[in-house]
Amino acid sequence: MSFRLEALEREVAAHAGELQDMLHRISIERDFNESLLDTAQVIILTQSVDGSVRSLNRYGELLTGWSETELLGKCFIKATSYPGTVGTETQQALQDLATGKHKHIQRESVLMSKPGEKYEITWNHSRLYGQEGETVMILSVGIDHTERKRAEQDLLNLNASLEIRVEERTFELEQAKLQAETANQAKSEFLSNMSHEIRTPMNSIIGMAHLVRRTGLNPKQLDYVGKIDHSAQHLLRLINEMLDFSKIEAGKLKLEVLDFELDTVLENISSQLSESAASKCLRLIFDVDPDLSRPLRGDSLRLYQVLLNYISNAIKFTDQGEIIVRARIIENNTFGTDEKDMLVHLEVQASGIGISAEQLTQLFQPFHQANASTTRKYGGTGLGLAISRQLAEMMGGEVGVQSQPGNGSTFWFTARLVRHQSRLRLFKLHHLSAWI
Ligand SMILES: Nc1ncnc2c1ncn2[C@@H]1O[C@H](COP(=O)(O)OP(=O)(O)O)[C@@H](O)[C@H]1O
Ligand SMILES: [Mg+2]
Repeated sequence: MSFRLEALEREVAAHAGELQDMLHRISIERDFNESLLDTAQVIILTQSVDGSVRSLNRYGELLTGWSETELLGKCFIKATSYPGTVGTETQQALQDLATGKHKHIQRESVLMSKPGEKYEITWNHSRLYGQEGETVMILSVGIDHTERKRAEQDLLNLNASLEIRVEERTFELEQAKLQAETANQAKSEFLSNMSHEIRTPMNSIIGMAHLVRRTGLNPKQLDYVGKIDHSAQHLLRLINEMLDFSKIEAGKLKLEVLDFELDTVLENISSQLSESAASKCLRLIFDVDPDLSRPLRGDSLRLYQVLLNYISNAIKFTDQGEIIVRARIIENNTFGTDEKDMLVHLEVQASGIGISAEQLTQLFQPFHQANASTTRKYGGTGLGLAISRQLAEMMGGEVGVQSQPGNGSTFWFTARLVRHQSRLRLFKLHHLSAWI
């Protein structure tokens, strides 16, 4: 009997030890959970199936301004909803969770604290089960995103205000550009008018000089009048360039598209420049595609002007050798039955001083002359090439140049011209080569 009692006592003592260990472990786990709940930087809330608060951690108390005891048994959603909103949607979602429709849900809502501050919270709600699988309570973990959302909003506001500033600035710049363009237009118009005003008396000076020459002057007087005439012609050329340039700038220059013959244009240039070429012993050679010796349609005056500028530059900057003018068709489109639209390539090749690669990039810009010393030696306004470029572009073409210092240069331009198919007149096909 005493033996059995002893055995029983030993068993009880062993169980008491196990129980002690279990209690110790439970107490450690409880401490661990409590300190986790106290230090977590998220709201941890448990609610009954009916939505009443069962527990709230310290962070939840801090954020809501409510103590856990104040909220116990009360509906959390009602206590922390924004006035006027009842949080019915959230209530419905929690209901669905409680009835087992979902296991977890995530929602965003605005939380209103007791002192009236607003917080943007992202909630993760989960269902906690009992032994029979029934919902015992709902665990809700809320993360405060107020700062992040505020920063996002600030960024959005900043973006919006930047966009407004950019728009305002663009508007100001457009206004300034418009003003500058208007001022530039006014300047071009003024120049255009002035050039016209100057050109009229200039023409009468030249005309009078011609008349005076025929009045039986002695050699000395003839020499003086000849110099007046020469200077007047030079001045007239400069004025004409300025007039054309300002006309183009002011958008006043219009093309005059008429029927013409390229050979006639080249003959006129030849007769105008042959004297200056001959005075430098330069050979002027024309090499023209025979297909271009047929009636054409385009602005012959502007074509003449570009060629005249290229050839007179070639004469100006070449001391010996020859100047070759070539004309070729590089594109041929028939449209309708009667007409052909052609892209014509014209070039002036001269063995003159040539141009450095650096200077080449600047050519065709207004007022640009390759270098100051040659300008002093050769004169000119530096407008000829800029005008040529604009005229070629107006004629649907482009300009360009190939050159090397000391190795001559080839200036070219293209222009769109129209040729009649049916009007193939028998045209004087004299070869225009080698005048002078
Ligand atoms: N054939 C050429 N050979 C060498 N340089 C040239 C030639 N044509 C033009 N240039 C250079 O280009 C510059 C601009 O020419 P252009 O615009 O016709 O003005 P301008 O003849 O009044 O100087 C010239 O001053 C010259 O430096
Ligand atoms: Mg020139």
